[in-house]
Amino acid sequence: MKALVINGPNLNMLGIREPGIYGTETYETLVQICQDAAGDLGFDGVEVFQSNHEGAIVDRIQEAYGSVDGIVINPAAYTHTSVAILDALKAVSLPAVEVHISAVEDREDFRQISYAGMACFARVTGEGLQGYAHALKLLAEKLAK
Ligand code: DQA
Repeated sequence: MKALVINGPNLNMLGIREPGIYGTETYETLVQICQDAAGDLGFDGVEVFQSNHEGAIVDRIQEAYGSVDGIVINPAAYTHTSVAILDALKAVSLPAVEVHISAVEDREDFRQISYAGMACFARVTGEGLQGYAHALKLLAEKLAK
């Protein structure tokens, strides 16, 4: 059972970026949380991928076809704009969980639409970096069914 965690633009700047919203922990901590959670949940492996480029994220989703069992994705700003990421998730048809560090539902109007979320079976928001552990748990439960 293999998981892929995908992070979109500016998440590599965690710790520096708007700490009042995203906290002071770094991207390395996010990776560690995912690796620890995946181990605890019985995944054989987890890859944690980050890109600032929409096409690279589409490429990584396509490459997941046939090689991973499920996806946890925080498309960051592309959440609210990218039909291409939505279509890629639909194309590979892998179980996917949407995760956001902040409580996007309590933020600006332009953050209220989620294209990627339309291809995800669950959504975790506002739980900080621990939300990734929660999202992996939901994915493991789905894969166990
Ligand atoms: C985010 C929320 C998005 O609206 C924003 O563009 C991000 C991060 C989050 O994790 O809270 O970059 O996805």
